[in-house]
Amino acid sequence: MRIAVAGGTGAVGTHVVELARGAGHDVVVLSRGAGVDLTTGTGLAEALVGVETVVDVASTFTLDAQESRTFFGTSTRLLLEAEQAAGTRHHVVLSIVGVDRAPHGYYAGKVLQEELVAAGDVPWTVLRATQFHEFAGQVHGSTTVGSLVLVPRMRSETVAARDVAARLVELVGAGPSGRVADLGGPETAWMADLSRAWARHRGDRRPVLGVPLPGALGRAMRDGTLVSSPDADHGTTTFAEWLQSQDEPAGQAGQAGQADQADQGAPRA
Ligand SMILES: NC(=O)c1ccc[n+]([C@@H]2O[C@H](COP(=O)([O-])OP(=O)(O)OC[C@H]3O[C@@H](n4cnc5c(N)ncnc54)[C@H](OP(=O)(O)O)[C@@H]3O)[C@@H](O)[C@H]2O)c1
Repeated sequence: MRIAVAGGTGAVGTHVVELARGAGHDVVVLSRGAGVDLTTGTGLAEALVGVETVVDVASTFTLDAQESRTFFGTSTRLLLEAEQAAGTRHHVVLSIVGVDRAPHGYYAGKVLQEELVAAGDVPWTVLRATQFHEFAGQVHGSTTVGSLVLVPRMRSETVAARDVAARLVELVGAGPSGRVADLGGPETAWMADLSRAWARHRGDRRPVLGVPLPGALGRAMRDGTLVSSPDADHGTTTFAEWLQSQDEPAGQAGQAGQADQADQGAPRA
């Protein structure tokens, strides 16, 4: 089947492209580097010729609700219009567990994206997943006080991006299915513990502390709103397995021992 992957150069998109090609699909990547801009429509009509299914895993980096709504609103409208013109029969989109229950600026755009897909004329599938394992590294180091690294106190159920990609490729084969069961990770943990393990793997020995964020978003992060529901499916790759599979070399044993000592007394998230 000819498939287009919007965001096919991203964290999950790279795996979608590789796994879909491995499954025998003919894959077109929609990204700016490939000459397609989803926010202007440049190159879209040409890229969708003969495409039966679009998998949308494009994203933008913003915490601002208006910016997020502009990106996901514009890109989704343009994609769906171009798909209708091209005769595309299935639109698959990746969303996030708890997206409609946590007041996060980025999530505002994801909610709009889900609404547009569900109201559109192209038959669709929506998969919501929890945060990727990579998230533990993304939150590490953005806020520091001296040598102390602060991360949000967050109950999490991270999942391997590759496990999410494998599910998306299965959904391509299944055909339009509407909103399907969420995909979570194999275990839950406090984000500070994952972030600390991620840093230790790179030899970073700074103490990591989980800090409760104020307000409704902070509550949602702590109370399990962002972990999957009991009827969810689960990826199988654990955080530890994912960490071991990363290219960065592990910290030396001596450094790890010092790290554990340095961390003693620091509250865990
Ligand atoms: N990260 C997570 O923990 C997580 C968890 C659950 C769900 N999700 C969802 O999964 C999806 C993918 O997330 P990700 O973290 O894999 O994204 P990512 O790594 O940030 O990749 C974003 C992709 O979008 C493309 N893109 C951005 N702006 C574009 C534009 N104007 N035109 C064309 N392509 C554009 C990028 O390619 P170019 O820059 O080359 O254009 C890139 O391929 C998102 O919808 C996100 O909400 C993410």
